[in-house]
Amino acid sequence: MSFGAPMMLPGLQRDEHWYQRGVYYEVLVGSYADSNGDGIGDFQGLISKLDYLQWLGVDVIWVPPFFESPLRDGGYDVADYRKVLPDYGTIDDFRELVTQAHARNMRVLIDIVINHTSDQHEWFQASREDPEGPYGDFYVWSDTDEKYQDYRIIFVDTEESNWTFDPIRRQFFFHRFFSHQPDLNFESPAVQREVFDIVRFWLDLGVDGCRLDAIPYLFESEEGTGESEPETHEFIQRLRAMVDDEYPGRVLLAEANQWPHEVVDYFGTDEEPECHMAFDFPTMPRIFYALRSQLKGELEEILRDQLDIPKGAAWGVFLRNHDELTLEMVDEDYRQTMYGWYAYDPRMRINVGIRRRLAPLLENSLDEIKLANAILLSLKGSPILYYGDEIGMGDNIWLDDRDASRTPMQWSPDRNAGFSTADPGKLKLPVVQSLVYNYGHVNVEAQMAQSGSLLHWMRGMLQLRRQHPVFGMGSLEVVETNHESVLAYVRDYRGQPSKRHSGDRRERILCAFSFADTPTSATISLPLDAGSRLFDLHGGQEFPRIGEDGEVTLTFGAKQFYWLYIADPEFVDTATSAISIIRPDDAS
Ligand code: GLC
Ligand code: CA
Repeated sequence: MSFGAPMMLPGLQRDEHWYQRGVYYEVLVGSYADSNGDGIGDFQGLISKLDYLQWLGVDVIWVPPFFESPLRDGGYDVADYRKVLPDYGTIDDFRELVTQAHARNMRVLIDIVINHTSDQHEWFQASREDPEGPYGDFYVWSDTDEKYQDYRIIFVDTEESNWTFDPIRRQFFFHRFFSHQPDLNFESPAVQREVFDIVRFWLDLGVDGCRLDAIPYLFESEEGTGESEPETHEFIQRLRAMVDDEYPGRVLLAEANQWPHEVVDYFGTDEEPECHMAFDFPTMPRIFYALRSQLKGELEEILRDQLDIPKGAAWGVFLRNHDELTLEMVDEDYRQTMYGWYAYDPRMRINVGIRRRLAPLLENSLDEIKLANAILLSLKGSPILYYGDEIGMGDNIWLDDRDASRTPMQWSPDRNAGFSTADPGKLKLPVVQSLVYNYGHVNVEAQMAQSGSLLHWMRGMLQLRRQHPVFGMGSLEVVETNHESVLAYVRDYRGQPSKRHSGDRRERILCAFSFADTPTSATISLPLDAGSRLFDLHGGQEFPRIGEDGEVTLTFGAKQFYWLYIADPEFVDTATSAISIIRPDDAS
């Protein structure tokens, strides 16, 4: 597959705001591309697809764990933090991945899984065998399983307790996740030192940032819930200080599946910062709820309810990822309704969530997939895409656990979807062959060949987003509409004057979305923009002018959206000049 003329490889551009501006793409090494035909995706395979990712418009690739592991939790069960899984390649291959990504001005984010290790890790082996030895206190041991009784169990489908008896040490060990994932004991200074060194090890290799997996659970206490304990925050502050000091410009991303007022604590304060970024868990299920209910209500509420975050901090927003679509951040009624709509087959459920991909969740409705992505790409926060969703890949609910949505990337209609040349029986996970999502027609090659495909549409959206720094850097203000199905907000950004442009470089964009299943019209209130003109961001077409009363009425097709440039009538008079005022290279 070719992506036009050979790409220029200009190298990594300096940009202190890269993590706020960029579009992220989560890619599982083992499921992306297999370079040596052994049936398992690998670093060389991923490297061979970097041109594709650059073509698509990806700025940051997030690579979940690729370390030595028994793979009983997709690699989140680490057996050696400094070794890569031989199936994926060597550490030199990983180094090459970073170099090649940087050459294309793409950054690399990796997972640092520090709450727990695999029970195969040598620390755990040493700890269970020699309680008095140097690793004796590396884990959380107890003579009983009575402690921390009110702590939440996360993997409710498989775990009955957060304690498991170890027959070798004849004590119980604590685990927040699977019973083969003992929690590290953060009370131990040696554990803390090890964690710092692991982070250093990967930052020395050139990675641009770390996703801190399961970060709320580091410390336990009798009084607390073992989630977001004060000591956990103190530890992250120290980790951040080390990163700022030794690796300025690299970032930390918190995975804290918590309510917004708790998650904001993971950004810390201006004086004592913690993570640069944190995933926004509550917004995601509300997008799916709005799509089915045709009601904007709760989504609008959560977007209105913006919490102050320190300067330079950023949310990471997403629709899907390698885990289940978690329903932890909604109340019980809402959750049951979501299960009814999106997980009508019990197989589709897991723990407190739904193990399906984006396209099947939305019944493969192109309008809904586009609407959901248009919200994602215009929210305040850095959008994170999940590999394969750019072509509307399907899932396989007959596979176990979250493997349902971790099947091989579908590149072409060839054997194994072009993912691997291996005997199909050898693949770790089979390619999707269902009626609707069969790799024979849902694949990159076919979508490249159709200008109207989802893939080309996604690429166009990423290009458009890149041209308007307001999406990465601006504020978001929800505005009133008179329709329960129509959500609208204004993104606003005032760039600094630059050499190429002087004067007012303010950019305001109206984003409006209709969740209705049928055509509708709605009046939007924009009192601050009375009399302004509106131009479609895609084609530059002029829309009805905002009235002197600050209101404008728009007509929407079913599940349709607009991104409209708000132009001050005295400042510009043509659509094209309005829309090209700010270009990405001179915004900082
Ligand atoms: C995180 C990961 C998930 C994993 C869990 C336990 O939540 O996203 O995939 O199972 O940590 O390691
Ligand atoms: Ca391979």
